[in-house]
Amino acid sequence: MTEPKDSPRERKGDIPSHVAIIMDGNGRWAKMKGRPRIFGHRAGMESVRDVVEAAGELGIRVLTLFAFSTENWSRPRSEVLALMSLLRKYTLIEKEELREKGIRVQAIGRVAELFPKAREALEEAIEYTAGGEKMILNLAISYSGRVEIIDAVRAIARDVQQGLIRPDEIDERVFSDHLYTKDLPDPDLLIRTSGEMRISNFLLYQMAYTEIYVTDVLWPDFRRDDLYRAIAAYQCRERRFGRVVTG
Ligand code: FPP
Repeated sequence: MTEPKDSPRERKGDIPSHVAIIMDGNGRWAKMKGRPRIFGHRAGMESVRDVVEAAGELGIRVLTLFAFSTENWSRPRSEVLALMSLLRKYTLIEKEELREKGIRVQAIGRVAELFPKAREALEEAIEYTAGGEKMILNLAISYSGRVEIIDAVRAIARDVQQGLIRPDEIDERVFSDHLYTKDLPDPDLLIRTSGEMRISNFLLYQMAYTEIYVTDVLWPDFRRDDLYRAIAAYQCRERRFGRVVTG
């Protein structure tokens, strides 16, 4: 597919290696149309398709999507069921195309907690797309940034107990290596839809220097062009990582 003229690839500035997205606003989108919340989630799946395709074409190496938080388990049972079923559908239907496009599916979060059919479909997609080298589609599911940090602390404590590492050897690299994202670079850009100025327990450790872009667009309306806009904004940022830029 040919990219429109305003593709960020045509512009000066780097394409971010890792883009993370908080896909928010499905419920409000549905409400505005007088439809049930699940209608918004279903429409949101179309946005996922479009954005995954666009991200792969742009040369983004890792796209992390916040698909289901640990807090989402306390939504009404019917909504949880619908979200599990959408996840199952997405992975079953899309895995062929993802493999063709060289996109490898991965997941972070307590995936074991998913409903069995959703978990099986996800695991199948992970296995089926394992050879993909163009982009990693990293799905955060049953995910909580705080729980991830606690899981890392527990794993490190076990390593210390077993004498594999000394407490004074624990540094940022060791800590990162015990996170769910251990093989991934930190996100360069976080996109949040629907205008909320929060990071909502997402990638808390990894986002120390991530650039944040918030748009009022609701997730079911978010498309390739909105991704381009977010990346164009990123390309205008000066990333200093806490340092002073000289010269
Ligand atoms: C937040 O909107 C969105 C979610 C909790 C679920 C995201 C799921 C999808 C986009 C569909 C499936 C995704 C994949 C990867 C297959 P909200 O319900 O909190 O919206 P609101 O804030 O307007 O109520």
